[in-house]
Amino acid sequence: MLLQRATWPGVQAYLERSQGVVIPIGSTEQHGPTGLIGTDAICPETIAAGMAEEDILVAPTLSIGMAQHHLAFPGSITLRPTTLIALVRDVVSSLASQGFTHFYFLNGHGGNIATVQAAFAEIWAEHSLAGRASGLKLRLANWFMGKRVLALGSELFGDAEGAHATPSEISLTWHAYPEAERQAAMSPKRAPSGPIRDASDYRQHFPDGRIGSDPSLASRAHGQRLYEAGLADALADYQAFLATH
Ligand code: NI
Repeated sequence: MLLQRATWPGVQAYLERSQGVVIPIGSTEQHGPTGLIGTDAICPETIAAGMAEEDILVAPTLSIGMAQHHLAFPGSITLRPTTLIALVRDVVSSLASQGFTHFYFLNGHGGNIATVQAAFAEIWAEHSLAGRASGLKLRLANWFMGKRVLALGSELFGDAEGAHATPSEISLTWHAYPEAERQAAMSPKRAPSGPIRDASDYRQHFPDGRIGSDPSLASRAHGQRLYEAGLADALADYQAFLATH
């Protein structure tokens, strides 16, 4: 069930059978010469759409995240960490006020991890400092770290998976949007690796936007397999999460 295509009586009825909700979260940032700027949002959104067919409520995607280091590339948009913390708190608080207890953030961007965990810490602190139990269960799951996805990515791409604009994530977006499939000349074939600092430094060290990856290995066919692996990982992990009390 997709929240944006549900009615309030439909959500009320859902709450009687489940108090869990999936919230896809991503980023809006360059993904090299061939990757879509929405890659990090599209990937978890696509997998979550599959979860929605299993009578799991899926909230609208939080599609802008932590991308300051990509701002030297046109089209990238970032929030400040404090803004994302406030966004996550407000989304959780809204749905918690109606009876939701289990919040499963399906994440597509490694750069979001620290800040979303900080948001969870803020939510816990708010309740602890007030001396009350929240009853809330909060989980951040990275689709690209699922065991089936990791095994398949390793089998398909080996070391060429890299860290940013990876063939795995780009393949998955092409599964979702086949018309986006494209190739471009990239040199070196496999991008350099190194630490991430600010936007100016990033563009200097990673001039075409990639880190450690060879996205020329991406394909729609690989994307189909990665989708199936990602959905299986997410469904298993979500069901285990729902069982936690
Ligand atoms: Ni990405």
